[in-house]
Amino acid sequence: MIYLDNAATSWPKPDRVYETLGSFLQHSGANPGRSGHRMATSAAGMLDRTRNRIAALFNAPGPEQVIFTLNATDALNFAIKGALIAGDHAISTVMEHNSVRRPLRAMESQGVTTTKIPADSEGFISVDDVRAAVRPNTQLIAVTHASNVNGAIQPIAEIAEIARENGALLLVDAAQTAGTIPIDIADMGIDLLAIPGHKALMGPPGTGALLIGDRVDLDDLNTVREGGTGGNSEEDTQPRELPARYEAGTHNTVGIAALGAALDFLVDVGFEEAGHHEREMTWRLIEGLTGQTGITILNPSEPSQHVAVASITVDGWEPSEFGTTLDSAFEIACRTGLHCAPEACQALGAFPGGTVRFSPGYWTTPDEIDQAIEAIRELARSPLTMTS
Ligand SMILES: Cc1ncc(COP(=O)(O)O)c(C=O)c1O
Repeated sequence: MIYLDNAATSWPKPDRVYETLGSFLQHSGANPGRSGHRMATSAAGMLDRTRNRIAALFNAPGPEQVIFTLNATDALNFAIKGALIAGDHAISTVMEHNSVRRPLRAMESQGVTTTKIPADSEGFISVDDVRAAVRPNTQLIAVTHASNVNGAIQPIAEIAEIARENGALLLVDAAQTAGTIPIDIADMGIDLLAIPGHKALMGPPGTGALLIGDRVDLDDLNTVREGGTGGNSEEDTQPRELPARYEAGTHNTVGIAALGAALDFLVDVGFEEAGHHEREMTWRLIEGLTGQTGITILNPSEPSQHVAVASITVDGWEPSEFGTTLDSAFEIACRTGLHCAPEACQALGAFPGGTVRFSPGYWTTPDEIDQAIEAIRELARSPLTMTS
């Protein structure tokens, strides 16, 4: 199979991820932070190690500012529901994934007002529109770093300046950028960064993190989940200390250990190189499809302005039928439809059918891309026969 669905979750994973998934549970499967025996302390050491790696990678103020979550959605929910209360205003964009769109919608029913910034036909939002949307009660600006539909990278540093000038927090959804392009939360002015562990960071499903910048006052970020943390047990309120404040309950230790192994792998091969390879494979695919009759490419025209996601529509084909045929006839795995981002598809002129999305990964080879180009061209040449 040619796997071009890494934007959903990366596959395959490095061998050491599979090995750790098996061995960690068997040999170090105790509950970290709960007991003082050696197996529990060794599991706690692993959590610290992975936390340190993540903090260093994104330049978090300290490892304790890295909160383990189940995925990016979980991190986004912590940030959105923790930062907003009735009477607050939040700004987001039409390019958001449902993991931002739906929590914000849920907060509207609790007295939060929201403004959505439009995007141009390439998926970019305007910094001026963000500035114009700010109100005295704007508490949060939530922006996806790069679109999961067409990869468009948003101007985060400029939006951060607006957030700072106006006393709002900036939440960045880095689901499609963590591990593919460098992110320095201090330099870029990001207050809250939501990352998945299972996409470009190559960890297993069930891993992710919320990174908290040094400008965030813990009084402005309510807890969303309360429970045991292994310490301060006499109190019936959540401890103030990080990371325990936002990490109630038993961790996904196995997943976090395997994420740690994935990060070790990426340190060995080089994050920059890995990210660059994925983008190169995407550019190769786009180049091979450019100018082909019946194929519309929805990516930004400037390659450096998008991440490793290519979206197309094909005349005469429903995206879902196209994807199913690529799978059954050519063993090519891609994703089709609205990609949990319906308004982004609308902005790109691909609603309600959505797009056919290809997302190369670290292991994708030029030969696989060339086979995909041939298959896509072949199907695009025969829309009527293939759909009848
Ligand atoms: C832009 C974007 N945000 C959020 C998410 C949700 O990530 P997760 O599946 O880790 O919850 C995705 C998933 O594809 C995404 O592409």
